[in-house]
Amino acid sequence: MLVLPKGIRHIPGFLDHDAQVSLVETIRGIVTEAPLYVPEMPRTGKPMSVRMTNCGPLGWVTDRDRGYRYQALHPVTKNPWPPIPMELLDLWGAVSGCRNQPQACLVNFYDETARMGLHQDRDEEDFTAPVVSISLGDTCLFRVGETTRGGQTASFKLASGDVVVLGGEGRLCFHGVDRIYPATSSLLKNGGRINLTLRRVTAGN
Ligand code: SIN
Ligand code: FE2
Repeated sequence: MLVLPKGIRHIPGFLDHDAQVSLVETIRGIVTEAPLYVPEMPRTGKPMSVRMTNCGPLGWVTDRDRGYRYQALHPVTKNPWPPIPMELLDLWGAVSGCRNQPQACLVNFYDETARMGLHQDRDEEDFTAPVVSISLGDTCLFRVGETTRGGQTASFKLASGDVVVLGGEGRLCFHGVDRIYPATSSLLKNGGRINLTLRRVTAGN
């Protein structure tokens, strides 16, 4: 059995098939309003392999000149992000143990070659609230480490409908996506994986 670092919870199959189908429909609507774009690494401007958008009052963005940050407007359309849909607010309420609503929902789309290097989610002011992550579509190999770079890591698969909560002592654990397993789900017509991460950004209410 895989023992996850303290504060990290993996809930396999949290969303049943119908809930996944409905959530994908909702995400399609969000992406129509707030199109996926290619994020850039700070300083180098190197494109990331995932495509991103957000919903919520704040969205996480990154580009060469201004780096990692949260902002209220889509960097390309300059419009406010669409609101976080009720089904995600409900999910947050069910698993986060946090009384406040999430302020940001990052939408990452992985094609079969995309990956995400080990990193911490630490652009928020408030680390008392957890990060809640939802996987849809193709299975991935997810890696979690310790709260310091270079510590031990463990990897496990995340399938469509799985939820991961990074909270408490696990809130600042390094994590990333090593690879996508193509054609492991038929949820997304053209394959690939969607990951949604819900977060609190500001301290206080
Ligand atoms: C992230 O850390 O932003 C994404 C994690 C994932 O895709 O599962
Ligand atoms: Fe992350």
